[in-house]
Amino acid sequence: MGKNQEDMEYLTFALTKGRLAEKTLEALSKAGLDCREVLDGSSRKLIFTQEENKYRFFLAKGPDVPTYVEQGAADIGVSGRDIIMEENRSIYEVLDLGIGKCRMCVAGFPEAGELLKHHEMIRVATKYPRIARDYFHDKKHQTVDIIKLNGSIELAPIVGLSDVIVDIVETGSTLRENGLVVLEEICFLSARMVVNPVSMRMKAARIRKVIRLLQGVLGK
Ligand code: PRP
Repeated sequence: MGKNQEDMEYLTFALTKGRLAEKTLEALSKAGLDCREVLDGSSRKLIFTQEENKYRFFLAKGPDVPTYVEQGAADIGVSGRDIIMEENRSIYEVLDLGIGKCRMCVAGFPEAGELLKHHEMIRVATKYPRIARDYFHDKKHQTVDIIKLNGSIELAPIVGLSDVIVDIVETGSTLRENGLVVLEEICFLSARMVVNPVSMRMKAARIRKVIRLLQGVLGK
């Protein structure tokens, strides 16, 4: 069978590795899309195929999920809204899965709150430069210097790399344990189901069925 025919036959899901994986697999399994084997720690196999229903599942790093979906390498993706906003890909966001709920915030030492009241030039450390730029430039009209980091963002104000950070706050314990506080709230986040626009047309019935199955277990 040619690659294109195979692509048409299967519905391929790109799921996010890490903290969202467990909850995503639980939601999909509840909806009857059993894909737990994709998280089988004893195997190095990257893709799991469910032959009866012609589903294929794989796990990818968060920021790569919208790329797989935009390019059509996956029909469907499950991704955090933070990643969807930051990556800004041409994909459809079709469903809020209501899992992985958290907030995107500006945080820092309490004294840094003063710096947000004026239009001063400040340094902002973040894993999300687009979200930070949109918020400060477009919404607050404040010119900021954005410093892109890849993790442990809370370190930046502590060691003097930045004045504030833009980061995800879930329980708030990372901030608390480091003497930092939420200074401003940017938006609420949760995991979303995203779809490739061509797949949405070509595999409409199958994708709608997946959305319905998930809506059923989400009580929507
Ligand atoms: C995220 C985020 C915060 C923390 C927030 O980091 O960047 O650091 O979780 O969670 P909390 O409010 O429950 O403390 P993550 O653990 O994903 O790792 P990272 O620091 O490498 O980005």
